[in-house]
Amino acid sequence: MGKKVKKESETPCKETFEPLPVEGKTPATVVLLLSSPEEDILVKACEAIHAFAEKGDENKVSVLGLGALAPLCHLINHNNKLVRRNAVMALGIMATNSDVKNALKKLDVIPSIIDKLSLEEDVVVHEFATLCLASLSVDFICKVQIFDNKGLPPLIQLLSSPDPDVQKNSIEIIFNLVQDYQSRLAVHELGGIPPLLELLKSDFPVIQHLALKTLQNVTTDKDTRIAFRDEQGFEKLMDILSNTDLSDLNAEALQVVANCLSDSESFQLIHKGGGLTRLMEFILTPNVSEIQSNAVKCIAKVAQSSENRKLLHEENVEKVLVELLSVADVSVKTATCQAVDAMSFHLASKDSFRDLGGIPAVVQLLNDESLVLKEAATQALSNLTHSNQLNTFAVYEAGGHEILVQQLYGSCPRTVANSAATLGIMAGQEVIRCSILSHGAVQALVEPLKSTNTQVLVNTTQCLAVLACDAEARAELQSAGGLQPLVNLLHSYHKEVLHNVCLAISVCASNEPTAVEMCKFGALEMLQEINQSVNRRSSFSELALISLLNSNLSVKYSLTSHLASSDIISDGFYDAGKARPGQKILTLEELSKQPVNQHQPIIVVNTAAEEAVDVPEERQSNPPETDTSKGDCRTPRKKKGDDKQKDETQPESPTEKPWKMMDDVSLQLLVKEAKKSILPLSDERGQYAVLARLVSEAMGGAVEMEKLHEFPWVLHLSELKFQLQSNVVPIGLIRRGIYCHRALLFKCLVDSIGMSCTLVRGEYNRAWNEVLLLSGNPSSNGRSSQPCCYIVDLMHQPGSLLKANTSAAVQYQTI
Ligand SMILES: *[C@@H]1O[C@H](CO)[C@@H](O)[C@H](O)[C@H]1NC(C)=O
Ligand SMILES: *[C@@H]1O[C@H](CO)[C@@H](O)[C@H](O)[C@H]1NC(C)=O
Ligand SMILES: *[C@@H]1O[C@H](CO)[C@@H](O)[C@H](O)[C@H]1NC(C)=O
Ligand SMILES: *[C@@H]1O[C@H](CO)[C@@H](O)[C@H](O)[C@H]1NC(C)=O
Ligand SMILES: *[C@@H]1O[C@H](CO)[C@@H](O)[C@H](O)[C@H]1NC(C)=O
Ligand SMILES: *[C@@H]1O[C@H](CO)[C@@H](O)[C@H](O)[C@H]1NC(C)=O
Ligand SMILES: *[C@@H]1O[C@H](CO)[C@@H](O)[C@H](O)[C@H]1NC(C)=O
Repeated sequence: MGKKVKKESETPCKETFEPLPVEGKTPATVVLLLSSPEEDILVKACEAIHAFAEKGDENKVSVLGLGALAPLCHLINHNNKLVRRNAVMALGIMATNSDVKNALKKLDVIPSIIDKLSLEEDVVVHEFATLCLASLSVDFICKVQIFDNKGLPPLIQLLSSPDPDVQKNSIEIIFNLVQDYQSRLAVHELGGIPPLLELLKSDFPVIQHLALKTLQNVTTDKDTRIAFRDEQGFEKLMDILSNTDLSDLNAEALQVVANCLSDSESFQLIHKGGGLTRLMEFILTPNVSEIQSNAVKCIAKVAQSSENRKLLHEENVEKVLVELLSVADVSVKTATCQAVDAMSFHLASKDSFRDLGGIPAVVQLLNDESLVLKEAATQALSNLTHSNQLNTFAVYEAGGHEILVQQLYGSCPRTVANSAATLGIMAGQEVIRCSILSHGAVQALVEPLKSTNTQVLVNTTQCLAVLACDAEARAELQSAGGLQPLVNLLHSYHKEVLHNVCLAISVCASNEPTAVEMCKFGALEMLQEINQSVNRRSSFSELALISLLNSNLSVKYSLTSHLASSDIISDGFYDAGKARPGQKILTLEELSKQPVNQHQPIIVVNTAAEEAVDVPEERQSNPPETDTSKGDCRTPRKKKGDDKQKDETQPESPTEKPWKMMDDVSLQLLVKEAKKSILPLSDERGQYAVLARLVSEAMGGAVEMEKLHEFPWVLHLSELKFQLQSNVVPIGLIRRGIYCHRALLFKCLVDSIGMSCTLVRGEYNRAWNEVLLLSGNPSSNGRSSQPCCYIVDLMHQPGSLLKANTSAAVQYQTI
């Protein structure tokens, strides 16, 4: 601040008529004189030190080195008014140097300096005492000392000093003090608000700034805001804001305004007094972008509370904001997007923005070069579209989805995250989803899937999960190389990311080639691992695991020992026994190539005739088989060359390549037979019974429970393995089979002819099929009764249907 020349010259001048006894002495001598018993000498010595120190920092440090500080601190309490005054002046000047300040901190001088603030003291004493404190008060300990020694009351009093230097120093000390909580609360209790507001009228900008900054700190306290309101603080701020000569104060004034509006009680009162209307007008009129953007930031801050949003909405803040979206200045537009974002928490506001044409305006901003603006605009869009279908369509109609897809290639993670979030929301509408996909969204999501930013991952995986319900999108994801990064994200330990990834995987798994591909990348193993972990497992991971298993029934049966009636087994299905959790499940080809061993054989299902051999491994690399609806699998395969019977027991050479499954002509015949004899039957029970007998006959006929141990199935299977030179045995070749073999054959035939049953594995080679049937006699009230679950006997009285949970059924299922 322009220091006033007046006092500077006046004060020392008073003494110049007296001869200076210290003149011409060295500084060292002058310092010694500070211990003189003569008051005259002391006056002169202090004055000389002041004059010397004022010339520069070097002088201050040298006087410090000569030991001036201790005597000066002593002299500021001298009885002689003149000595006291000059000592304070010397000390004040000295303290502006940081070395001196540090030395001073050790001298416990603060109480004496505070003494000098009393109104009895000369204004010059006030000036230099406050100068000294201003310098000390940046230090935390000193601040506490000033507060504890009751420094605040006299300092607040001095805010009204006629001397601007005293005012400036005092407000500076107070500003430093209010950085700490206790002082912040104390200011209004000590009546500090009126003098602070008075300082806003000061002619000195530095004083006005300090006053505003102090107000900004103290108005974070609720009681202070009440005092502030009682003193018409808000109106005084608005006066500053409206005064174009004071535009340098606007930014700080707006911060205080934002504090005033932050609690709803203040907000209501200010609103009632017309303050809000005045604020809106102010936002739209001024020309300086910085002020405008600060004003909008103020609105965004105010809009953090839901009650305030309601009032802002009533005040039609949306209209002002929509207008500001089309100004030229980027920072204003950015701040406006942030305010739109904040207001979007208020549901009615979202509609207002749309009605006022705000949505195309925000979409337009996505084309801007500024990355910060793009980020704010994408954030606003994600909030505007969140649970608001009409806004979703408005973004779509403005072409926003197309630009948002492009944003996915951007470098700012938050923009990518926001764009993915918005696209995910929009894709909930089918029409929009198709359009989003047509603009290459899936391709664009592949890179973000490799991001290390959690928000990006959360939002892109979520978006992907929505898009992937479209079969084309899944195929596209696969061809764009997106499946591998998606599957890799199963390693994520972030809960939300993992949930979304699991969701996306389970959606993608409905497409078999996609599922196969994901298995290739280890999805199944990772999901099993997740399923083993109590912390990571969730309903999402289970869903993903089951979805994947549903496209890989061999693995499903191996892991879960259960196939539902909706799980239709097809050629290439194999039963390799129960897998232990975590055990890697080998493919049929791998199993076929193992040397013959002592374990139970792997039973494989292959109903296809030679010409139509179905090799799963070839299918994997052959995606065009798009969405496999389960229904297709029910259609029995066309059989050609049934008569062209080949030697069944002739083993395929294991070295033959490419590997293919062994034909199973016996099974082909069984399927044919089943169709011929069962499909014509009208009664469902009869159908299951006949089929059961067919299975039983194929595998050695009825076996009495008591004679089970005599039934030579183990030997038979060993012989088959030996003959085939393989551990893999086609099911049709089995002539002596027990529960597990018969149940599998039954399931296979049932699925081939379009009926339905489950396949359940029990302990000790037990396995059985459950069928659902309406119980024989419809109840008397005419309504058909509930369907009942039956276990099909394939072993002892083939064709019997054992009602589930009866002792007969339990006996069949267990040893
Ligand atoms: C006080 O206000 C200033 C700005 O004037 C700000 O930088 C500072 O963080 C505030 N202090 C506290 C403790 O709020
Ligand atoms: C804004 O500034 C422009 C040029 O600087 C001026 O022509 C215009 O009148 C100003 N508008 C207001 C409302 O001050
Ligand atoms: C706005 O966005 C934030 C962060 O993205 C979110 O937490 C909030 O729920 C959204 N609000 C609305 C109303 O959509
Ligand atoms: C999307 O990401 C943003 C961060 O950029 C986050 O605040 C927001 O909550 C996310 N949105 C959704 C819908 O998850
Ligand atoms: C089934 O899962 C196994 C084990 O992960 C895998 O090797 C095989 O390729 C999968 N087959 C299909 C058709 O998904
Ligand atoms: C997943 O883990 C649970 C709890 O261990 C288990 O009951 C369930 O069978 C597992 N699911 C699959 C498909 O392995
Ligand atoms: C058999 O009984 C168990 C418990 O007693 C029950 O949970 C199960 O649903 C029953 N099964 C059938 C098929 O009724």
